[in-house]
Amino acid sequence: MRRKLAAGNWKMNGTRADLAEIAALAEAHPEPGCEVLICPPATLIDRARAVAGPSVALGGQDCHAAGSGAHTGDISAVMLLDAGAHYVILGHSERREDHGESSDMVRDKARAAMEAGLRAIVCIGESLAQREAQNTLDIIAGQLSHSIPDSATGENLVVAYEPIWAIGTGLTPTTDQIGEVHDFMRMKLETRFGEGVGRSVRLLYGGSVKPGNAAEIFAVSNVDGALVGGASLKAADFGGIVTALAQS
Ligand code: PGA
Repeated sequence: MRRKLAAGNWKMNGTRADLAEIAALAEAHPEPGCEVLICPPATLIDRARAVAGPSVALGGQDCHAAGSGAHTGDISAVMLLDAGAHYVILGHSERREDHGESSDMVRDKARAAMEAGLRAIVCIGESLAQREAQNTLDIIAGQLSHSIPDSATGENLVVAYEPIWAIGTGLTPTTDQIGEVHDFMRMKLETRFGEGVGRSVRLLYGGSVKPGNAAEIFAVSNVDGALVGGASLKAADFGGIVTALAQS
């Protein structure tokens, strides 16, 4: 059985005042019935740990492929772990776009995260132009094979399918479209890593997940949870998604 995961990605949002949302989430969901994760800005991880309680895990939003060294402005997997993180989001489309991250770079970061003892949430997804050109599955296959290191297991890897055109837009794919990609990712992971590992990796959907559409998305085959941006910033919204996942 794969543990369901509701993951919140705060992106470049949040200062100390917003820790109250994490405290409220933890208070409202002491036994959530699924794994709950918040990935705040790295500046807040240490403080968030103090208010998140045992029911809310914390994660980073990126890490460097090296453990330490002369990389001004970067943060290593070991540092995230030391601050209280257990997960790190890697290869989000905003980082691929804003920072020119290639799938090969994402794979190196994921390897470093796994070596440090973090779970990597590797993000992949097609653009609207790629979907309209009917290249979605080719893009997914390429990103999946290049962004994931050979050291992946069901414990240290989570894959998030995030169509770029659905992020922050209010648009979502149909449940058939989500199911097609998730079944395809499962098949690819089983082929590469064998059935045992391939079946145990959790697959999240991300892109405009809200309390109102969460239940129908969680009913799709091979959807083991969600990576949530905007709707993770408020405890009440994210709590609705957590509840929908626990009941799915
Ligand atoms: P969104 O973002 O939920 O605001 O669409 C999702 C993400 O980028 O992870």
